Amino acid sequence: MDMVATRPEPQGLHRELSLGLPRGRISPVARCMALVADELDLAEGLLNSQLREGEATVSAIGGYLAVAGGKRIRPLLTALGARAAGFGGPLAALMCAGEVLHLGSLLHDDVVDEAEERRGRPAAQRVFGNAGVILTGDVCLARAVRLAAEHGGLRAVTELCHVVVEMSEGEVIQLRHRGDLDLPLPRYMEIIERKSAALISWCAAAGAWASGDERAADGLRRFGRGVGIAFQITDDVLDYVGDPAVTGKAVGRDLAERKLTLPLLCALGRDPGLRAALSATAGDERATAALLLRVVESGGPAEALRAARAQVEGAVGALSGLPPGPHREALEELGWHLVERVR
Ligand code: IPE
Ligand code: IPE
Ligand code: MG
Ligand code: MG
Repeated sequence: MDMVATRPEPQGLHRELSLGLPRGRISPVARCMALVADELDLAEGLLNSQLREGEATVSAIGGYLAVAGGKRIRPLLTALGARAAGFGGPLAALMCAGEVLHLGSLLHDDVVDEAEERRGRPAAQRVFGNAGVILTGDVCLARAVRLAAEHGGLRAVTELCHVVVEMSEGEVIQLRHRGDLDLPLPRYMEIIERKSAALISWCAAAGAWASGDERAADGLRRFGRGVGIAFQITDDVLDYVGDPAVTGKAVGRDLAERKLTLPLLCALGRDPGLRAALSATAGDERATAALLLRVVESGGPAEALRAARAQVEGAVGALSGLPPGPHREALEELGWHLVERVR
């Protein structure tokens, strides 16, 4: 395969490596990536071939996703987690497994959410239709499980099957609460833990499971769970304060749908009249811009970010049983980056 011709334009974390910062001014994420640059390269090549393989519609939708880039946080976590646990074997397939499952879940999520944009382009179902996108999502899921089975062993693949159930059920629970302004905080936490943190946790621990190191896997899994929760809270905050040109996703969609995420939950506690204003304008898209401003000015998104940072703090503590060294430090650095990020 011609790796150069098929490699997507660097975006997100990948772009950090080519920012051309002066020597000694390399960004923290670029430093994390540089530690596992060879692994990331191999995983990217495998990902591209996986996504372009198969029946014409499946490969067209896969290719559409491949060229759109993405931050590749999950493969990065797999590589750093495995190396931090002392696993020296090949990693590309395991790194790819987590990312392929993520891509399948994005295809399904954009159908469920009727999303307009993903990664700065029209969401796949707007181009290819719901049916093809749902089925391609299924293909991604099955490919991810196969990669984990062939390259991670029984424990890693069993855990990944649990993740698939968690993610699907997390999305279903969220769907059931659509428009519910009384969603309790523990239920929100359960949703994000299942739909996002479960996979991120698996990605961090996969290499340790593959090498049979249960103790390291346990620490990495707890680390991944905390940073995964923080990551999703940040995603929910970016739905209020993100720049669509940078995130590749429209702003204000959660609010327009009255989807209760942590920034809004915090805002409801700070602005006593907000609940009534939301109920009075449900279904009125024109009210969204003013409500968005009101939520931001209430300090709700900032409070949510503080909660995300507290999650990272706990997560970093879970790494204490791993041998100290550059890969463990890089995991810490990455954990903090995931709440400071702007995309
Ligand atoms: C988006 O994940 C979906 C969530 C779980 C929040 P990412 O923000 O990692 O998406 P890409 O891969 O960079 O596009
Ligand atoms: C994240 O959910 C998608 C999955 C975990 C499958 P959201 O619906 O909150 O994420 P975005 O904002 O569409 O990426
Ligand atoms: Mg969505
Ligand atoms: Mg969703």
